[in-house]
Amino acid sequence: MLNLKRRQFLASAAAAALLPKPALTFETTEVLEAREGAVSMVSSDYPDTKIWGYNGGVPGPEIRVQQGARVQRRLVNSLDEPTTIHWHGIRIDNAMDGVPGVTQEAVQPNTSFEYDFEAPDAGTYWYHSHFNTTEQISRGLYGALIVEEPNAPEVDHDITVVVDDWRLSQDAQIDPDFNQIHDWSHAGRLGNFLKATLTPALTEVKQNQRLRLRFICVATDRVMNLAMLGMEGMVVALDGMPLDTPTPAELLTLGPAQRADVIVDVTAAQGEKAMIGFISREDPIALASLDISGQASLARRPEIAPLPANPIQRLTSLEGAQTVPLNMEGGAMGGLQSGIYKGQQMTTEELVQNGQIWTLNGVAGLPETPLATVALGETLRIPILNNTAFAHAMHMHGAHFQEVLPDGSFGPLRDTILIERQEAREIAFTASNPGDWVFHCHMLSHQAAGMITWVKVTS
Ligand code: C2O
Ligand code: CU
Repeated sequence: MLNLKRRQFLASAAAAALLPKPALTFETTEVLEAREGAVSMVSSDYPDTKIWGYNGGVPGPEIRVQQGARVQRRLVNSLDEPTTIHWHGIRIDNAMDGVPGVTQEAVQPNTSFEYDFEAPDAGTYWYHSHFNTTEQISRGLYGALIVEEPNAPEVDHDITVVVDDWRLSQDAQIDPDFNQIHDWSHAGRLGNFLKATLTPALTEVKQNQRLRLRFICVATDRVMNLAMLGMEGMVVALDGMPLDTPTPAELLTLGPAQRADVIVDVTAAQGEKAMIGFISREDPIALASLDISGQASLARRPEIAPLPANPIQRLTSLEGAQTVPLNMEGGAMGGLQSGIYKGQQMTTEELVQNGQIWTLNGVAGLPETPLATVALGETLRIPILNNTAFAHAMHMHGAHFQEVLPDGSFGPLRDTILIERQEAREIAFTASNPGDWVFHCHMLSHQAAGMITWVKVTS
């Protein structure tokens, strides 16, 4: 240790007083380095898969903080192209939202950016690149962001389950053709290798143990239908936000970016397995399978109770609300005739030449003017018509919304809504977070091909 004599100390203290105080010091800030890495993705029979990941891994390091704590991370860009980080689902300061060209400049190669924000709501969130996402997220630039309740329900294991859909070659390498117009105009870049990563990497549990499973669908474009076998319990939160009334955890449908927290008790007995399966028209695929190593106490567990509510404003009425409809068009079999791109009216053919194939209210790509401008405290209703032949997962930055149900009641708080083809759904929220917030399809191929707009909340 440096042992300064008192006189030297005084001298250096005086010198320091002359220097302008740094606004923030990041000496202890943890780094998220976006860089190349190699991971054993498929099995030891296959070569390692080259990925892009935070600190070289995929998923990136799991971030866990207490509710209300600050998250401080320095993004170091060691890629050959710009990048940013978006903190998905966090009601965040607009300047920390990570949208290049909207809330910050893209972080150039060999430079860094300090993210520093508060996590106001407990729950399951995630972080990911928001630049060239069809490639950067597909290559692995994402991780879990868990905000813990001060009084978390008691469980034996709290497990994050990140579910992804990879498109791999025979030698387990990521298909580098990220921008196929065929994918972009249909259901997106669907993979051929589904993977669930459990953190911690548990391989066995006991019968009767209680688990909290935090599912995060990080797939580029695929909707995940997940089932749990040998476990029984309740969905307690969606997109991070607690449900007032937990619902039985049966089939979980998670569109890209959506999350679900479930609390389950292991019912499988010794010799059986507790499994997470992917359900499709073909045979189910086991994504995770836990051995049962004995039995925990049979002592009756308390009933699974709702999680404590987050300090977020919810809708009570729609009185005085501003209504701005959103019409989704385009894609294959969509019959789109024309659209505006970069301020110019184009035929569908011209749009496709520009890599655009989907429109929101007739505009492909981020429009110059927002979809809506709302004042703080004002309620915005967005009736959405999916006038296309595909499902879309619309994600609002900076706010959670509620669905306005046909009977006039309000659905659970969400940040991403999965809208089936030809479906009409309405969302609404009361603006409480000033800034420019993008609102886009989280099927990243659709986003890249036009499905992105924004909402301005004025202060
Ligand atoms: Cu998780 Cu703009 O996205
Ligand atoms: Cu979409």
